[in-house]
Amino acid sequence: MNIDHDHLKIFGGRAGRELASEVCAHLDISEGTAQTDLFPDGELIVRVEEDVRGRDCFVIQSTSDPVNANLMELLIYIDCLRRASAKRITAVIPYFGYARQDRKDTGRTPITAKLVANLFVAAGVDRVLCMDLHAAQIQGFFDIPVDHLTASMVLVNYFEGIRSDLGDLTIVSPDVGNVKVANAYASALNAELAIIDKRRESGETVASKNLIGKVKGKTVLMVDDLISTAGTICEAAKLVMDEGADRVIAAATHPVLCGMAMDRIKNSPIEQIVVTDSIPDRGRLEPLRDRLVELSVGPLLGEAIYRIHHDMSISALFQRGTGVKR
Ligand code: R5P
Repeated sequence: MNIDHDHLKIFGGRAGRELASEVCAHLDISEGTAQTDLFPDGELIVRVEEDVRGRDCFVIQSTSDPVNANLMELLIYIDCLRRASAKRITAVIPYFGYARQDRKDTGRTPITAKLVANLFVAAGVDRVLCMDLHAAQIQGFFDIPVDHLTASMVLVNYFEGIRSDLGDLTIVSPDVGNVKVANAYASALNAELAIIDKRRESGETVASKNLIGKVKGKTVLMVDDLISTAGTICEAAKLVMDEGADRVIAAATHPVLCGMAMDRIKNSPIEQIVVTDSIPDRGRLEPLRDRLVELSVGPLLGEAIYRIHHDMSISALFQRGTGVKR
């Protein structure tokens, strides 16, 4: 790779360090050095420890749990780089927190995803690189360039590698929101498609009652953008097993996995759960180790950063059918 080592700087925030290391290893460059410290009163400070004047800077940080602290750290990073005269600052946000607050679905509620976009722009970011946003239209909340990647290529590659073990396969979308993506998986993996009608009852509970499509005697692969409390995939897994599926596997880009998720998955018929490292693991996913496959999006982010730095196309990264987004 032809890398301009001196002009490209990649930093990892506290929720992006592992990915920053992977990206830098992929690009064969050293990581930017910076330090985030906590004052006794809870305030954060970011100190960039090298010259960034006139450089093309990327900060990798997922705005995952603790969401507000990680978000604030990223904003402070951007401010710090701006005041240190970086030429261009790209926020690399593998998991974009608050993306599910993307519209007013009842009266007197905020659109926090838009507020977060405004905050990034106010802090001085020049562009954003993100992955599998909960709603692709969040790109439009920014009036600056947004490159929206999808991890489906990484996930599909994995399933292509074990395709012969999957036998007669049906891809199941656990709700209507993910049908487009599920359909792309079905084409890429030469499988059938089924859809579940899910109703959300509360933040933690869902009811999945109706299934459109055939799962009897099949291997079911459920695909979603994220797994949070795991209500969605566990309810869907129960339903497909009740409908006669042979086995069920779940795949998602973002392992949010909070609240009751671990217990729900452990007590579910899901035999394998495939996720990416868009949110740091750090032992958090230990309870699921017996059925967990974690795939790295580091090389994908590395390629995208390389292309942005060299003004090359991002869409050219995706093979046909694996660039579909929600
Ligand atoms: C919903 O539209 C999303 O794609 C996920 O299905 C949902 O947010 C997952 O949440 P949980 O795991 O808490 O059911």
